[in-house]
Amino acid sequence: MRKAFVYALVLLTAVVSAVDSVLLKKGWYRTQSRGRKITLNDVEVFDESTVPDSDYLRVGGRIPTLSKGSVRNLSNATILKFSFCGVTNVLAGAFENLPKLEILALLDNEIDHVRAGVFNNMNLTTLYLQRNQIATIDTKAFDDMPRLYKLKLNSNKISVWDPNWFHNSPSLTEVLFRRNNIQSIPSKAFQNIKGSHVYQGTYLVDTKIYLSKNSISYISPDALYGLEELSQLWLDRNRLTELDEGIFAGITQMSILFLSKNKLKALPSKMFPKLTSDIDILDLTHNNNITCLSYDIVSAVKLTNVQDVRRLDCECVQKLVDRLKEAEKVNEIKADCKKKH
Ligand SMILES: *[C@@H]1O[C@H](CO)[C@@H](O)[C@H](O)[C@H]1NC(C)=O
Ligand SMILES: *[C@@H]1O[C@H](CO)[C@@H](O)[C@H](O)[C@H]1NC(C)=O
Ligand SMILES: *[C@@H]1O[C@H](CO)[C@@H](O)[C@H](O)[C@H]1NC(C)=O
Ligand SMILES: *[C@@H]1O[C@H](CO)[C@@H](O)[C@H](O)[C@H]1NC(C)=O
Repeated sequence: MRKAFVYALVLLTAVVSAVDSVLLKKGWYRTQSRGRKITLNDVEVFDESTVPDSDYLRVGGRIPTLSKGSVRNLSNATILKFSFCGVTNVLAGAFENLPKLEILALLDNEIDHVRAGVFNNMNLTTLYLQRNQIATIDTKAFDDMPRLYKLKLNSNKISVWDPNWFHNSPSLTEVLFRRNNIQSIPSKAFQNIKGSHVYQGTYLVDTKIYLSKNSISYISPDALYGLEELSQLWLDRNRLTELDEGIFAGITQMSILFLSKNKLKALPSKMFPKLTSDIDILDLTHNNNITCLSYDIVSAVKLTNVQDVRRLDCECVQKLVDRLKEAEKVNEIKADCKKKH
């Protein structure tokens, strides 16, 4: 009787642990983006014993947890996609020994926490994490990623920006956090992000930061600390009512600043004191309470767009236009005002 019980227990434990170690019960993979789907059953690990070591690999099916060593030893894999797999947990060491991996796509899953120890020291250039449930990103989650160029975290639940992210990840150039719930941009927010990079001997101001459609109502005066140049900063569709004069005070070069659809009333008159060349575009559309801008601003921007600004004072705009003309400057202002010629 007692022996039978023990056997039953052993058997049950074996069954439970076997079930536990199955990552994917029923699914498929393909080795080309439009290639044939090949069936997978009861996968315990993604390595050469279960999938081909091809340069492209996409996996489908339900994989709630990727644990340590779940994806490993694929020496040729450059692109790996696990999208729409219901992935909720990605544990430290989930991706091991993938020496050629450049693009890792984990978009359209249910991940809620990006842990340290998952992506660190990988040679990825591109990491896709958009459309998950991410609310927490460990401070060190994206540290020591020497080649990380593009990080996409759009449409998640991030509410806090951590200024200590991206330590020792100097290639980061496209930073996408659209459609989250970030409320403020803290001091030194971008201290670990470089505004320019050198590619094959060519120096490029190429960094683009996308924070569109969050809930940002405050930007610390030294949020851009250390970032003297920048290609594009997208802050449209937020809740900004004012900007401190210090925010852009250190900027020497910037191509595009998007501030459309906020609640700005005015901009500081000396907003860009250190520019060495004009900004290409300053977009202020749909900030209904702006009445006018300073000459210092419009003369430092090639195209200032104040269309769809309900309270815009067209007389003031005309004065700015006249003054630019007098100074023989080519800077333009786009506004819903009748032009006088
Ligand atoms: C890995 O790539 C090399 C070079 O393209 C190829 O010769 C080799 O067969 C690939 N390995 C596997 C397991 O597919
Ligand atoms: C697979 O990778 C692990 C470490 O990631 C290593 O210890 C193991 O020897 C590798 N196995 C094979 C068959 O290469
Ligand atoms: C990243 O690349 C470097 C240089 O090619 C290599 O030494 C290192 O092992 C790679 N790291 C990983 C985790 O693949
Ligand atoms: C815009 O100005 C009007 C009138 O002064 C005021 O009632 C309204 O609250 C302001 N809106 C914003 C978003 O500041």
